[in-house]
Amino acid sequence: MRDEFDEPQMPVPVGEAGAEATASVAAAEAPAEVPPVPAVPDGIRLLNRDFLTDAANLPDASIDLIVADPPYGLGKDYGNDSDMRSGEDFLTWTYEWLDLAIPKLKASGSLYVFCTWQYAPEIFVYLKSKMTMINEIVWDRRVPSMGGTTRRFTSVHDNIGFFAVSKDYYFDLDPVRIPYDAATKKARSRKLFEGSKWLELGYNPKDVWSVSRLHRQHAERVDHPTQKPLEIVERMVLASCPPGGRVLDPFMGSGTTAVACARHKREFVGYEINESYCAIARERVSAAAMAAATHAAAAVIDAAGA
Ligand SMILES: C[S@@+](CC[C@H](N)C(=O)[O-])C[C@H]1O[C@@H](n2cnc3c(N)ncnc32)[C@H](O)[C@@H]1O
Repeated sequence: MRDEFDEPQMPVPVGEAGAEATASVAAAEAPAEVPPVPAVPDGIRLLNRDFLTDAANLPDASIDLIVADPPYGLGKDYGNDSDMRSGEDFLTWTYEWLDLAIPKLKASGSLYVFCTWQYAPEIFVYLKSKMTMINEIVWDRRVPSMGGTTRRFTSVHDNIGFFAVSKDYYFDLDPVRIPYDAATKKARSRKLFEGSKWLELGYNPKDVWSVSRLHRQHAERVDHPTQKPLEIVERMVLASCPPGGRVLDPFMGSGTTAVACARHKREFVGYEINESYCAIARERVSAAAMAAATHAAAAVIDAAGA
């Protein structure tokens, strides 16, 4: 296991806590008139380390948002035995990492934790003893109807607990509002609704998020067995981390949270024990940074031509 995953790197000073930042050496060699594009943007740290043994190196009260998608205790193969715990053993381990993660949050900070119906009751009761519960979000994975189980109802959702350090937690609904379609807007065009801010801004996504899981053919899918859809994690980052704030992902996997942060200019620190998944995360973050830079350059050219 390597300490810091990022490859060719040169130190770039960053403000807080002496955190190492990285930038691409290749990008530094680009022609003078082309702004350098960092392979992994400043402020994004992809660590090939075990969160439980390394958490002590992360300063307390330095994080705005934790997005935690840990092993669920269901026996998935992550190239290690991290998902082989079950029952009390799994819960003891869960409480251990939660106790390490929670102090990292600022007073305005919050936490989203993915889990399943099998363990959500115990995890939520534990978290309620430490934090303020804001929501239980149900992720409807849009699983198609097929045969399957005959002794109970088919489970097609994940549970996501949303908890805050205090009642004064950061939350901005506007960037995650869902626009009304033209037909709905027209139907609500009567005098009664005229000038309604909510009609223009869109509606609250509510607490049931119906987003397709990433099946093998999905364009976003990489080689990770439980990769989460970017749409879900982006919603968490945009609503619960201020622009320029810092997000922690203790179980980074293929780097979905890091990609959301790279796309939306948040700082990020993530941990992953499987080196191959760190490599995937790095590739995804570099591609996202490149796409964002290209998009920004195109906007500048458009503006100059206008
Ligand atoms: C559910 S997956 C995360 C998937 C991720 N959200 C994504 O979209 O790709 C959990 C990950 O945690 C990693 N892991 C397990 N124990 C860990 C630990 N102690 N520290 C860091 N990573 C760990 C596993 O290798 C696995 O890739």
